[in-house]
Formats: sequence, C-alpha cells, structure tokens
Amino acid sequence: MTTDNLDALVKQLAGAKKYRAIGISEDTVRDILITELERQPNEKAAIQSAKRKLHEVMALYLGDPDYERAVHELEAAFATDKATAGETNAVKATCAQLMAIHDSTRERLPLLDTFYAQIFAVTGTPETVLDIACALNPLAIPWMGLPENAQFYAYDIHQQRVDFLNAYFTLQGIGGGAFNRDILVQYPVESGDVAFLLKEIHRMEKRRKGIVLPLLDALEVRWIVLSSPTKSRTGRRTMKDTYQQQVQGLLADRDWSITEIEFENELIYCVDKNAHE
Ligand SMILES: C[S@@+](CC[C@H](N)C(=O)[O-])C[C@H]1O[C@@H](n2cnc3c(N)ncnc32)[C@H](O)[C@@H]1O
Repeated sequence: MTTDNLDALVKQLAGAKKYRAIGISEDTVRDILITELERQPNEKAAIQSAKRKLHEVMALYLGDPDYERAVHELEAAFATDKATAGETNAVKATCAQLMAIHDSTRERLPLLDTFYAQIFAVTGTPETVLDIACALNPLAIPWMGLPENAQFYAYDIHQQRVDFLNAYFTLQGIGGGAFNRDILVQYPVESGDVAFLLKEIHRMEKRRKGIVLPLLDALEVRWIVLSSPTKSRTGRRTMKDTYQQQVQGLLADRDWSITEIEFENELIYCVDKNAHE
C-alpha cells in the first residue's frame, strides 16, 4: 500500500461516525493498520481486523460522561467548596459521580479511601505521577493525598477526555497536564516517581503481543503500578489466574521487585525498577 493510500485509510477510520466527535489519535489508527496489513492475508481482512482492534482499544463501551456538562458540574463544585473555606466535599462528590460513569473507575469507588494510601505505603507518596491510559482515573486525585507541588501527567487517546481532564487540572490547581498521546507509539518523555498503568495491559497485549514490556522499560520512573482485573466485565468469571500469569510472564526477565496488593476486582503490582541497583 502506498503512503498516500495509508494516509487516506487512516483518515477514513479515524473519521468513522463513532470516533469523529471524540477525536481519536491518528497515531493509534495508523499503528494498528500497519500491524494488521502485515499480519493479514489481504487488505480487506486487514481493514476488518483493524476496525475490531480499534473497537477494543478505544473501549467506548466502558462509558463516558457528557464532557461539556461535566466541566460545568466541576466548576460549580469547586465554587461551592471555595465558598465553604477549603472543604472538598462537593468536589469529591462530583468526581465520584463522574467516575461512576466509566467501568474501571466505578469499580474502585467503594475503595477510594484506602486504595491509594495502600499503594503509596509501598511506593512512597509521589511528587510526580504519570497516569498511562488514564481514562477518568485522574478524578481520583482528591483521594491521593499528593503534596501541594505535585505534578500529574495523564495520557489517553481520546481528545474529549483529554480536554476535560485539562479543564479539571486547572480547577484542581495541579501541575502537569493531560495529553492525547498513544504511549505505545510515543513513550512518555516526562519522568516521575510513580507511573500508573491500571487495568489496560491485557487489552494492550491483545492489540499486539509483546507490546507492553518495551513501554515498561522506557518509563522513566522508579515505580510502575500495574493492575489487572480479577473478574470479567460481567463479574461472572474469575480472570485472576489468567491475568496473573500474563503479568508474571511479562515481568519474568526483569530483575525488578514486585509487591502485590489485592483489592476487590483488581490485583495491583507495585513494581520497583530500582530495587536491585
Ligand atoms: C480500561 S480504561 C482504563 C482506565 C484507567 N487506567 C483506570 O484503570 O481507571 C483504558 C483507557 O486507556 C486508553 N488507552 C488505550 N490504549 C492507549 C494507548 N496506547 N495510549 C494511551 N491511552 C490508551 C483508552 O482510551 C481508555 O481511556
């Protein structure tokens, strides 16, 4: 396929009705298309397979709020808390309502008071966080207990989500920013103390087997906090052993120390890349 044909196909897939409004990363579409053109017997099969992979990678079925309304709700909540001298009740309530709209963050809501405290008891409280494939997880910042000078860098491939998170960061007064960046195509250039890569490894490895370890190697952080779901999306099947084997296999060749923390629905791995230096 010529470069011009590939460019046209990238535009066509990224411009599909379900992706046009949200602003999907063209890097992601191109990378998936190139891989499928190499793997599949012909162009038609490659395009079909690329569409299926994009559907899984974008995972729009996990849920999204109305982002414009969400910004107004957050503005109102921050104004309420400001008027009540430093309260965080309204902001926390609004963040929780918004997190409830996406499956990954909804599952964590009952645990929020202890989730990050338990993780940071292992890693130390970070000053700089990278949240990789973040979706709405940065809305949990009010529960993280980060220091005042904290920097929070968030990466996703959904422009609407990224714009919304930047509006939230401004209201929250936290440094860093959200970026529309496919971190499997362009590794984060920012360095930090802790990188979160929560509940996405299994999907990334489906996109292309072996894609995650080079990302883990490239991350300029001491700690990587990985997680996998322990149940299927419906909650009916246990996935713990399957995904645990996947993570153990992934990390087998690295001399990194791993501390596991098991929560309801999610198994966390705090990976210390410097443990044996
Ligand atoms: C299952 S959600 C997980 C969200 C979050 N990590 C959590 O656990 O709450 C996956 C998110 O990763 C994003 N994503 C998938 N592949 C990505 C990539 N290669 N680079 C950046 N973001 C990605 C998707 O757009 C989606 O918002």
